[in-house]
Amino acid sequence: MCGIVGYTGRRECRDILVNSLKKLEYRGYDSAGIAVIENGSIKTIKAKGKISEGLESKLAETGKLDAVTGIGHTRWATHGEPSDINSHPIGNSRITIVHNGIIENYRKLKSFLIDKGYNFESETDTETVAKLLDYYYTGNPIEAISKAVTDIEGAYALGIMFKDYPDMIYAVRKDSPLIVGSGNGEMFIASDMTALLEYTKEYYLLETGEIASIRADGVSFCDLHGNKLTKQIQTATWDVSEAEKGGFEHFMLKEIHEQPSAVKKTVSPRIKDGLPCFEECGLTDEMLRNYHHIYIIACGSAMHAGMIGKYIIESLARTPVIVDIASEFRYRNPLLKSDDLVVIVSQSGETADTKAALELANEVGADTLALVNVVGSSIAREAKMVMYTYAGPEISVASTKAYMVQSAFMYLLAFRVSLARGAISEDECRTLVKKLEEIPDLISDCISDLDPYRKAASRLIGADSLLYIGRGLDYALSMEGSLKLKEISYIHSESYAAGELKHGTISLIDDGMPVIAVATQRELLAKTISNMREVKTRGAYVIAVCPKGTAIDAESADEIIEIPAADDMLMPLVAVVPLQLIAYYASVLRGNDVDKPRNLAKSVTVE
Ligand code: AGP
Ligand code: GLU
Repeated sequence: MCGIVGYTGRRECRDILVNSLKKLEYRGYDSAGIAVIENGSIKTIKAKGKISEGLESKLAETGKLDAVTGIGHTRWATHGEPSDINSHPIGNSRITIVHNGIIENYRKLKSFLIDKGYNFESETDTETVAKLLDYYYTGNPIEAISKAVTDIEGAYALGIMFKDYPDMIYAVRKDSPLIVGSGNGEMFIASDMTALLEYTKEYYLLETGEIASIRADGVSFCDLHGNKLTKQIQTATWDVSEAEKGGFEHFMLKEIHEQPSAVKKTVSPRIKDGLPCFEECGLTDEMLRNYHHIYIIACGSAMHAGMIGKYIIESLARTPVIVDIASEFRYRNPLLKSDDLVVIVSQSGETADTKAALELANEVGADTLALVNVVGSSIAREAKMVMYTYAGPEISVASTKAYMVQSAFMYLLAFRVSLARGAISEDECRTLVKKLEEIPDLISDCISDLDPYRKAASRLIGADSLLYIGRGLDYALSMEGSLKLKEISYIHSESYAAGELKHGTISLIDDGMPVIAVATQRELLAKTISNMREVKTRGAYVIAVCPKGTAIDAESADEIIEIPAADDMLMPLVAVVPLQLIAYYASVLRGNDVDKPRNLAKSVTVE
């Protein structure tokens, strides 16, 4: 799940490529590289590590590059360890490529090419594509690309340069995203629009099986047989400032602060006459009445938003909801039927596992509704219905505002399903919607003083391991809290249903072990407090997160983080904020790279 960029125009391309690559670093940062055409020759500079660590120091040694055409790559390694040699661009003196994806039949291709006399330098799957292009190339780039991609199996977005065509870049893709940006006398390619916002907002979406031939003054598209294609230009709605840190130390902190407005932007346009309305995607009450089951399929934080959805839809609408991890769902032969609704949740809209789950649901004939943040992404395009979350670009690998708006959407869905099924009246629904609309202010209250979160984080950073506990919605939320913490602080943690501890996990508790207890559900409070006491008596250091005024005493918790109170059902939207900020400060205090945690990438486009 790397990031790809490319430029051809009149300006020197080196800094443009590096600058655009930095915007894509959230997609992977094992290594980075660029290749440019300078004085008719391909020149490649690449290095292990983040752009600022490896590539930029090499570029400083290299000095100025007299080049107006080039491609670039930031890598999340799938085949071959992160190293200089396995970095992209990969190729030889006449063809070089950048690749995002996985070539599944690379072993077969490799032995074929070795038989043809090629030597391999890297351990990457990508090198087979570079060599295959070289094998087929006899002077016509389109012909070579068509032949090569016909032979390869797997996922790819490729940026390609031929020495013989020094002012051009070529692109082709299957299952991995790629756009062609159109500027004034200059053209770009990129894995997504955030890389290009500084230069242009106009772009074409490249589809599977299409080849783009790009030069400074425009682009032409053809299919794999060379037939010309006409494509519609699109305009991005995101603003360049949305993809900048805007004075915050980290994107994660900025994105946490953007949550109140992200919720408003996502919720408001879906309210008509005080009620949730899904007309924009064609989801009617009749459909909602008739679905047998609702499935919510996603990965990571998006799946946790689905867990919130399950609790509230089931309790309010009395409709069964199955939440599944996309990578499990697709291989477990699910009992999905054509009269089910499958809600696919994804910030990026490119997550390979989630996309495959969507394809399976489409095959079965179920109705598919994508809840996606990136406009025009693969999942958005492949689902039967799509609703966008309006979080704006989320750059930090750890999801915060995207999770927040996905969860907020779950409430809209729960309210409308309940109304459609007669589980609540219109008046009840309007009251619930009003309460949801009050949430952004409560989130703002939560982030007006960050000290309690920093203080709580300082208690955790010495721990080897900790637990998050809660009941009901608090349990669903603690899953997200725990994921956030381990993702960026590298401290091991587990989320546990508070009542389940005594069935085994409580044996982990020893002196000083931190336990974060989420206690926002009044109905379950007494039970949760008992569970807090059980761990505290056994030596745990308990940090309780609860609404202001909750009766939790010193016998049950060592530290209490009070947050504004909302309706119990809506509390996850408020209570997630302290959990995000505790994780954030734990990462900062441990000196980690908050926005780019080790081994991870934002957009996981491989299985
Ligand atoms: C969350 O902090 C993670 N980085 C991760 O779990 C993420 O939510 C997951 O990979 C799904 O991504 P998507 O929403 O883009 O599909
Ligand atoms: N498979 C290629 C590599 O390992 C590209 C990786 C990716 O897109 O994640 O270098």
